[in-house]
Formats: sequence, structure tokens, C-alpha cells
Amino acid sequence: MSLPLLTAVTPRYEADLTTRLGSSRAVHVVRRCADLAELLGAAAAGIGQVAVVSAELRGLDREAIRQLQAAHLLVLGVHRPDDEAGERMLRRWAVPVVVPVDADQTVLDAALAELLDTGAGEEPAGATTGPGQAPAGPAPRHTQEDHGDPAGGEDPPRGVPPLLADEPGRVVAVWGPVGSPGRSTVAVNLAAELAEPEHPVLLADLDTYGASVAQLLAVLDEAPGVAAAARAADQGTLDRAGLNRMTPEVTAGLRVLTGMPRPDRWTELREHAVQDVLAVCAATVPLTVVDTGFCLEADEELSFDTTAPRRNGATLAALDVADHVVVVGSSDPVSLQRLVRGLDQLAEVSAAPTTVVVNRLRAGAVGKDPARRVREALERFAGLTDLVLVADDQDGVDASVLAGRTLREARPTSPARAGLRELAARVGGRDLAPLSQSRLARRRARV
Ligand SMILES: Nc1ncnc2c1ncn2[C@@H]1O[C@H](COP(=O)(O)OP(=O)(O)OP(=O)(O)O)[C@@H](O)[C@H]1O
Ligand SMILES: [Mg+2]
Repeated sequence: MSLPLLTAVTPRYEADLTTRLGSSRAVHVVRRCADLAELLGAAAAGIGQVAVVSAELRGLDREAIRQLQAAHLLVLGVHRPDDEAGERMLRRWAVPVVVPVDADQTVLDAALAELLDTGAGEEPAGATTGPGQAPAGPAPRHTQEDHGDPAGGEDPPRGVPPLLADEPGRVVAVWGPVGSPGRSTVAVNLAAELAEPEHPVLLADLDTYGASVAQLLAVLDEAPGVAAAARAADQGTLDRAGLNRMTPEVTAGLRVLTGMPRPDRWTELREHAVQDVLAVCAATVPLTVVDTGFCLEADEELSFDTTAPRRNGATLAALDVADHVVVVGSSDPVSLQRLVRGLDQLAEVSAAPTTVVVNRLRAGAVGKDPARRVREALERFAGLTDLVLVADDQDGVDASVLAGRTLREARPTSPARAGLRELAARVGGRDLAPLSQSRLARRRARV
């Protein structure tokens, strides 16, 4: 059987290549597209089953490849002879078979046979895998910039231990329902408690409604952040060294990928790009902590349109790839009810194990003995018997936000740290040096 084939190849090689494709028995050329727009239009119209694209085709990017694959086309990539960068780029964009554009008939036939073997109608392979300063804000932090390999090579970033290829780092998503229960505070301080020079942690802000990590840690607006990382992922150029350049080190071992500087730019964070970014994070550091948005709705009405970005796509992508989800609720009655419902919603989008944190624990919100009351309520309404409780510490948290520092730096004696360190020990899977017992005991007694 011969499959209909579309080409979109730069003019210099187009005629020769089309002649050779025409001699192949596996395919027959049905349209020679002048540019990417024509190719995508033909693909959307269902005209072909195979597409041949050249690496230097104007406008070609990962999204275009994804669109072709979403239209059930098998994509063959061609690149100029000796254009290793072009070849690498096509492979990063999940083009399954790539050959030089001057490949002879035998090589081309073999490539087409291999491509057809990958099977029509497959999902794209790629699918697998700063805010301004507040008026009273802190002085910008002097980040310990590490510019990595200026050539953009694949060397591990300086200061980051190389990982074995078969040992990706873990991704921990911090999520919580609507109502600002403290996702960002928990994410920042969880990452900070676990970060050590020998245990680097990357904190990524993927909240498309209100990114705040840059501001909480006083990282300058100019930090390129997640928008730049997603763009590079889309272009197939994001690697460990590149990520390293985009993630200033704010304290020893703690790197930050800042969020969208303005919430209306959320369209720049497409799900597959976010997945790629998190994959590179996991290949770069042993632990990535992700601050996410609250909303888990899937924009069902857009699901027919595989190219439309989804506002919650970044959060859903993070929850999808996360090895562990930290669920944050606040301790007042309204928040506890939202937490119970939120856990049900979360179960629909993530199968990862969870640790539930009840933040801002205080007697004023639920009555005397708040720990017992919260435990009883969550056992009764959500069947939860295992919680981490984080004390309310308005003074300490305010002081750390004002200073643009973590609690560990700005308020090491904060009573909120006891719960945060318990969380860190569970998530990080290692014991943390105990805080001063007398201090802790004193603080706990106040909860
Ligand atoms: N343990 C705590 N003690 C006192 N205040 C806290 C605590 N945790 C968080 N807060 C405060 O609660 C507010 C909300 O916290 P945070 O910004 O972390 O929540 P969020 O869930 O990320 O909110 P958003 O919906 O804006 O992303 C902030 O003013 C923060 O300082
Ligand atoms: Mg937040």
C-alpha cells in the first residue's frame, strides 16, 4: 500500500528529493507545499498520511511537528548534509525518523519503511515523556549566578552533580485549592529546607494565575524564567546548561525558575513545553519543587482543538509528571472543606502519592486544640489519617516575605518551620538535622 505524502522542504533540495520520493513504492507525493502554513493546512484537511519536513523550513518548531502528528501524519525529517544541529533539533522535536536530505534511494526507502513501522495515528512521542517588586519589597537578592557552559553544550551545570541518565531527579508538585492556602509559602520553604550544595533543589513557578516565587525570594524581574524555558523547549534547544543559565541560585543549592511575569501571558506555557521543561529539570537536579496554580479544570470545550493552549495546562502537566504531590490546605473551616473537595478533584488528574499539609494551624480558626480538631475533621470527611500540620506564624512569614528570604534564612526559629521540616523530611526521604529542641518545644507549645 502506498501512502499519500506531503512535502515542505526548502527549495534548494526540493526537486531532487521529490524525485527520489516519487520512486519509492511506500509513498506517493500528493502535495509539494511551498511553506509551513500550506503544509499544516493540508494536514488539517486530511490530505496526506506522511509529511516530509526539512529542518530549516521557516517557522518549523516543535508545535508544528506536534500539530502534524496530532493530525495523524507520520513525519520524516530531513536535514542538510552535515547539519548535525538540524538533525538533533528534529529528534528533540520527536520526529521519529530523520535522514540527510541527499540520502540515496536505498537509505530513503529504508527510512520510509522505518517510519511506516512506527505506525500511523500514534500520539506524538514528545507527549510522553518576574514579578515586579512590591512597593515595600525587599532589595533584589544577589543571586549566585552560574552561567554554565556558554557554548550551550550538554555539560552538567557547574555546582550541580551529574546525574546518571537512568536516574532522573524527582519532581514534587505543590498544589492546593482556591483561596491562597499557602502553596507558594510551602513550596518555597520546602525547597529551601531540602536544598544543600550537595543536594541541589530547583524551585519552578508554574502558577499561571499569580506567580509569586520571584517576589517571595527577591529575584530580579530580568530573570528569564519559565517563559524563556518553555520557548527554548518549543524550539528544541533547552538543555541542562541552558536551564542552568535560566535559574539563578538564590542560596547554596537552591535554584529558581521564576514564573510568568504577568498572568495574561499564560498562553506562552503550553503543556508539552512544560513537560519538556520539567524533564530537563529532572535531568539536571535530584529534586524539582513546582509551585502550581489552584485550578484543575481541563477546559473541556477546547479539547477538540489540540493546538489551543489551556490556562491550567501548566498545572495539569506538572501534576501529571510529578512523582509526589504536596496538597496544601489552610486550617479554617472554609479552607478545610475546599481541601476535602480538592482531594477528590486531584485524584482525577494525578495518580502520584500525596502528602497533605494543613497550613496556618491556629486555635482562632477552629477552636482550642486545633491539631486534634483538624485531624478529626479530615479523618471524618476525607478518611485522612496522615497529615503534616504547619503552624500559623504571621510575624515570621511576614518578616521573611518582607526580606525576600526563606524562613530558614530570615526566621530560623519560626514555629512554622517545624511542620515544614517534617514535610521536607518526608518528601526528601532523609532526616534533617534537628532544630534546637528547646526552641522548638517552646514554639510548639504556642500552637
Ligand atoms: N504558616 C503561615 N503562617 C502565616 N502566614 C502564612 C503562612 N503560610 C502562608 N501565609 C500567608 O498566607 C498568604 C497566602 O500564602 P501564599 O501566597 O503562600 O498562598 P498561595 O496558596 O500560594 O496563594 P496564591 O493563590 O496567591 O498563589 C500570604 O500572605 C502568606 O504570607
Ligand atoms: Mg501562590
